[in-house]
Amino acid sequence: MCGIIGYTGNKPAAPVLTKGLHALEYRGYDSAGIAVCGSEIVTVKAVGRISALEEKLRGRDLPEVCGIGHTRWATHGCPTEINCHPHLSYGGKFAIVHNGIIDNCRNLRVLCENRGISLKSDTDSELIAHLLEWEYRGDPLACLSRVAADLRGSFALGVLCADFPSDIYAAKMRSPLIIGLGEDMACISSDGTAMPKEVTSLIVLADGQVARVRPGSAEVFFRGRRVEPERVKCSSPEIAAALSGFPHYMLKEMYEQPEALARTVTEDCLGRPYLRRNVTLIGCGSSYHAALASKPLVERITGCSAEVCLASEFIYSEKTVGRGKQAVFLSQSGETADTIAAAEEAKRRGYLTLAVSNVHSSTLTRVCDEKFCTRAGPEISVATTKGFTTQVGALGVLASRNDEIAAALKELPFAAEKALAVEVGEVAKLIAKSVNPFFIGRKADYGAALEGALKLKEISYISALGIAAGELKHGSISLIEKGTPVVVVSTDEALGEKTLLSMATVRARGGTVIAVTNIDEVAQAADFVLPLPNVHPLLSAAVSVIPLQRLAYEAALLLGKDIDKPRNLAKSVTVE
Ligand code: M6R
Repeated sequence: MCGIIGYTGNKPAAPVLTKGLHALEYRGYDSAGIAVCGSEIVTVKAVGRISALEEKLRGRDLPEVCGIGHTRWATHGCPTEINCHPHLSYGGKFAIVHNGIIDNCRNLRVLCENRGISLKSDTDSELIAHLLEWEYRGDPLACLSRVAADLRGSFALGVLCADFPSDIYAAKMRSPLIIGLGEDMACISSDGTAMPKEVTSLIVLADGQVARVRPGSAEVFFRGRRVEPERVKCSSPEIAAALSGFPHYMLKEMYEQPEALARTVTEDCLGRPYLRRNVTLIGCGSSYHAALASKPLVERITGCSAEVCLASEFIYSEKTVGRGKQAVFLSQSGETADTIAAAEEAKRRGYLTLAVSNVHSSTLTRVCDEKFCTRAGPEISVATTKGFTTQVGALGVLASRNDEIAAALKELPFAAEKALAVEVGEVAKLIAKSVNPFFIGRKADYGAALEGALKLKEISYISALGIAAGELKHGSISLIEKGTPVVVVSTDEALGEKTLLSMATVRARGGTVIAVTNIDEVAQAADFVLPLPNVHPLLSAAVSVIPLQRLAYEAALLLGKDIDKPRNLAKSVTVE
């Protein structure tokens, strides 16, 4: 999704901004641009990669020390240079970058047209620049407050005003925005990964706040009054985002899983939230799969049936009364719009809400009543790996009042280490050539199977089908023909018989069975085996998914895909 960066200090802004934009690349984008502010505002934009923007900047003399930049992920209007941010106001007085969606853009468009302002782009964002110039009476902060109050929807805004060439103005509503401060410099950004290394403290803007950011200082206002925001000290905001010798972030992050799991499962237990009876687990994409994979564990611990719901569907479910029930929201980023909307709805319905997130001061953790933080460390790869495994580990921690689970949790990092050593090369070749590979499993293995299929789809663009093993015979089996690969995840001895039956059914139709298993009988009945270490069947998804991640990675590599920047995808999906 779109990313914002802004810098004001004593160095030329353009190189700082492009460096920041590179750090935001992982969020997903299709065009990028910057604006720098001197006696007038200059913008430079390009469609495609940031290297295209850098190419345009080469040889330009831009000494200005204040500017804003943006990576755009198209929503309103195609990825063209005109739609690319920053957008200038009609008289060139303001430039803005925007992350989010303006719900009332149609009305605002009519308002601008009635004022005789001709719009250049198809975006909702351009309107904001024009409204600012129209409202301007010499105080950019006051006019930003007025304009922000008229916007509906979500926005993180970075604004330049030509009359104040070393100031950046910022506003936030339901899209993340952080201010970073250092000696003689300051910046704004969508997240910490893009902050320059000079930053020594951070301010996380809250909804409804606007700010004036100057070198070394920031003033924050809420409804016209100055507020004192909390400042968080940070040693090195250029967080561990470097590749450390790995060819891709995805591979690096896969290898970080044993440590990430160890950090998560040894998370300080004092005062942490716990699972109640009547739990609903809610998430999107991989987080939803982690919820599915953890359902059997949650049910074992609470002794009650647990529901699992897609965040984007939860808001449409019958208006259930949440009193006496707990809703647990899983989100690596904590910024997924669907999940946040579901959490807000759950609160309205009276649920006790708990966020399980990897980002400790995310919107989701602030919305929910309680939080439990996974300790995966920053995840850059669009295809999540350690985000998923630590979510499964986190639910294990929340359930660890059961001694058997507590003991099994301690083993998870070691099992993950062993799973990383599983050789997938031969199977990856098979999968890379295949058309409709299946991923099947039951109980916790079902969640892992869905996640394996999603990983493959995301980065190799192979149309994989993740399905509950028992559902195969109810229709999808018609797709199985000679050589169709069927990846069977099987970690629960108690389900061995049924798994063997599914495998026999597949093989009878010519399918090739690839077992991801630690059960001997299952391994013996398969055409290929990805052997798993022993792991508790209620926590197994944190381990069984690892060879599946590797399989997707190797297949995508064989197919020459752009693994860390898969097409059409964004790291955090901040639109509903
Ligand atoms: O940050 P979240 O966990 O809330 O993200 C949810 C999904 O968008 C995310 O898991 C997505 O499916 C990943 N790209 C999967 O790799």
